[in-house]
Amino acid sequence: MMKKEELARIRKSLGLTQKELAEKIGYSFETIKRYETGERTIPDRVEIATNKLRENKMEIIAIINQKGGVGKTTTSINLSSGLAITGKKVLLVDMDPQANSSKGLGLFDPDKGTVSNILLRGKERTNIQEVIRKTEIEGLDIITSSVKLEKTEQILTGATFREQLLKQSLQGLKYDYIIIDCGPRLGILNINALVACNKVIVPCKIDRYSLEGFGDLIETIMEVKELSGEDINEYVRIVLTMVSKKSSQSLKWVQNQLETINCRVMKSFIRQAETVNQAHMETKPIFMFDPKGNGSQDYESLVDEVVKWQN
Ligand SMILES: Nc1ncnc2c1ncn2[C@@H]1O[C@H](COP(=O)(O)OP(=O)(O)OP(=O)(O)O)[C@@H](O)[C@H]1O
Ligand SMILES: [Mg+2]
Repeated sequence: MMKKEELARIRKSLGLTQKELAEKIGYSFETIKRYETGERTIPDRVEIATNKLRENKMEIIAIINQKGGVGKTTTSINLSSGLAITGKKVLLVDMDPQANSSKGLGLFDPDKGTVSNILLRGKERTNIQEVIRKTEIEGLDIITSSVKLEKTEQILTGATFREQLLKQSLQGLKYDYIIIDCGPRLGILNINALVACNKVIVPCKIDRYSLEGFGDLIETIMEVKELSGEDINEYVRIVLTMVSKKSSQSLKWVQNQLETINCRVMKSFIRQAETVNQAHMETKPIFMFDPKGNGSQDYESLVDEVVKWQN
């Protein structure tokens, strides 16, 4: 028989609220609540229905850190390309008005539809299929961004149900992975990314200020995803980026600091490599630009770890 903790865990790993799970499996919200508090035993058909949802689950991963220049975009591009190269069907969503992911894949064309068109209402709104574009990498699609997203963010700040917009738009798509590249802030766009995702990766550049604002970020994630301190472990992973030999002391310092927080660090880390930077400038994923170098090895290892990460 399914335990109440197990039901809550599966529901959260699907990125669903109690109400959303209730709707998906045809139960009332009150009933699901009673199952999760242990007031009622969970019937087998609920276990079967939730397991079925899990089998068809789309992994939606937000790449987020409100600190700028820590490797969010580089990780988004290389992780999504790497997953596509291993045969997964992947969508990269550029949620940053700087549009660096779009530019980084050579698809910057603000006159075509962008992510703004799925977040806004009224005549600017379009069907999500109209803003999905193919990239040069087989299996990798993208929803691009543009500076217009700044304006969209301002409009959304006054809108109702504004936190749910991205999540609602992504529903019904069929991908193995959706990777969301977030901009360096914690505004409504990134809250949308957090609401939509079922996993979070926090790139963290090794320096003295790496963990500044980290507490706020974790608090926001916990609040948005209704996670306890223990859950954080399951849903959030830190990836250390731009690690160099010179930074070994700072690396130790950061690792010590992270031990005091209940947050797991990926085993794979990304070394500082000029080719990673150059690949970005040449608008190519690292796997195409320097397939044998450190950058490719590091991102390949991250891709493997992400594929094995089940919650
Ligand atoms: N492993 C690496 N080695 C060398 N340079 C890197 C590496 N990772 C990222 N960079 C470079 O560091 C800079 C910042 O990286 P990136 O744009 O990915 O950060 P970001 O967190 O997305 O920034 P923003 O907050 O502005 O969106 C870029 O110039 C990128 O090419
Ligand atoms: Mg970026």
